[in-house]
Amino acid sequence: MSLPTEPVSMENLPGYHRGVAATVLIVDDERNIQVTLARALSLEGYATETAGTGREALEKIASLPVDLVLLDVKLPDLDGLAVLERARQTRPGLPVAVMSGHGSIETVRQAFVLGAFDYLEKPIEGRERLLAAVRNGLALRDLAAENAELKRTTGPGEMLGGSPAMQRLRELLRRAAAAEGRVLITGENGTGKELVARALHDGSRRRAGPFVKLNCAAVPAELIESELFGHERGAFTGAVAARRGKFELADGGTLLLDEVGDMPPAMQAKVLRVLQEGEFERVGGQTTLRTDARVVAATNKDLLAEVAAGRFREDLYYRLAVVIVPTPALRDRKEDVPELADRFLAEACERNGRRPMTLGRDAQAALQAHDWPGNVRELRNAVERLAILADGPVLGAEDVAAALPGARRARTDRAREGAGFHELVEDAEREIILAALLAHADNVSDTARALGLERSHLYKKMRALGIKRGE
Ligand SMILES: Nc1ncnc2c1ncn2[C@@H]1O[C@H](COP(=O)(O)OP(=O)(O)OP(=O)(O)O)[C@@H](O)[C@H]1O
Ligand SMILES: [Mg+2]
Repeated sequence: MSLPTEPVSMENLPGYHRGVAATVLIVDDERNIQVTLARALSLEGYATETAGTGREALEKIASLPVDLVLLDVKLPDLDGLAVLERARQTRPGLPVAVMSGHGSIETVRQAFVLGAFDYLEKPIEGRERLLAAVRNGLALRDLAAENAELKRTTGPGEMLGGSPAMQRLRELLRRAAAAEGRVLITGENGTGKELVARALHDGSRRRAGPFVKLNCAAVPAELIESELFGHERGAFTGAVAARRGKFELADGGTLLLDEVGDMPPAMQAKVLRVLQEGEFERVGGQTTLRTDARVVAATNKDLLAEVAAGRFREDLYYRLAVVIVPTPALRDRKEDVPELADRFLAEACERNGRRPMTLGRDAQAALQAHDWPGNVRELRNAVERLAILADGPVLGAEDVAAALPGARRARTDRAREGAGFHELVEDAEREIILAALLAHADNVSDTARALGLERSHLYKKMRALGIKRGE
């Protein structure tokens, strides 16, 4: 191994990883190899540690800020691969490159299976090979960390809330995720049913598999089979290419049947068959396919009432509802409002390019006083409006009042003093509809149902009153 010829300034050394010297642990029982590698690395600015046995290596990995490990497979006490396996268990993100002078193909294969990021043949030919391996290992680690961070911030979102109701929910989820049984998630609009379904998936042994969602209320009647089971090319007009259905896509993972209470009867029969037999065919296909998808269903309806009313098949209900996970309404866990509101406000300010704002005590109290018929979604939307409309840095109760629908009514009432009976009724109608739309995430069907109106009637009213969605 040759040494660099020119002196280099410390800050530009590759070993200065993000401003700090990265520490490389060299594990080898041969003293001269420890010394050669350590010298080559320290000349590049890396800090080095050495270990001569597997035990010593594991101790140092556990106790020192090691960033990367170069690990010989032949050690006096433990097998290097066993050290690799344990290191990956205790510190999953730690990059480990395995070195060997006499590696069989099998050893190489196993090293990669156990999570090594590289395999170096000893004696290591050339400094460059060594340095490139170390650079790559650290870059991979950073990528993995960034990826995890991205998933955390843009993914389905973290389930917040430390109230007793949320603690019970988490405990139930922990148990349900570990088991394989089908789960029915029930709860009002906006209580986090989808979030719960994802948490179930992420907490299960299927977490590396796909998470697939099917909105049962939104599948056109003629496409039900194709959505569920896929189709072969030419199976029907418009089927220009073969397509996989949701059951196939979710193989090895989780399939969320969302809004399951709105599943049309024809679809109920088809889903029941797959759940009973685990088999299906693509539309126009001859081959019988099997699926290993864990089915999780969610609904805001009282499914047993739907069964009693003859709108939902009883046999399907019992297939789906092996474990029932109810999501609590926000008004039953108001102690979570401040935590949720703080987080949503920070996110909304960031998203809308606004300077960070915080909620004063009276603002928090005003938010807690509200009943949140649209639950967490309504709170999130209200806080988003706050972030856009209010001027920080500390928001008060009057800012909250202006962003809540109840407050708008009070203002209109004042402005409309002297208005005739007809106009006052219209005002009231407008406020009622706006509040209901807000509570149902602008979903007109849900809003109509909640208000006990025909959907077409609600549309007509909205047009007459000049209400657009998203107000
Ligand atoms: N405990 C929670 N912590 C943080 N965010 C939450 C929580 N519960 C819900 N949310 C957020 O509230 C919004 C609504 O959640 P979600 O879509 O899961 O509700 P839902 O029960 O499926 O509603 P719907 O019945 O209307 O489909 C989402 O933005 C979600 O991230
Ligand atoms: Mg939902």
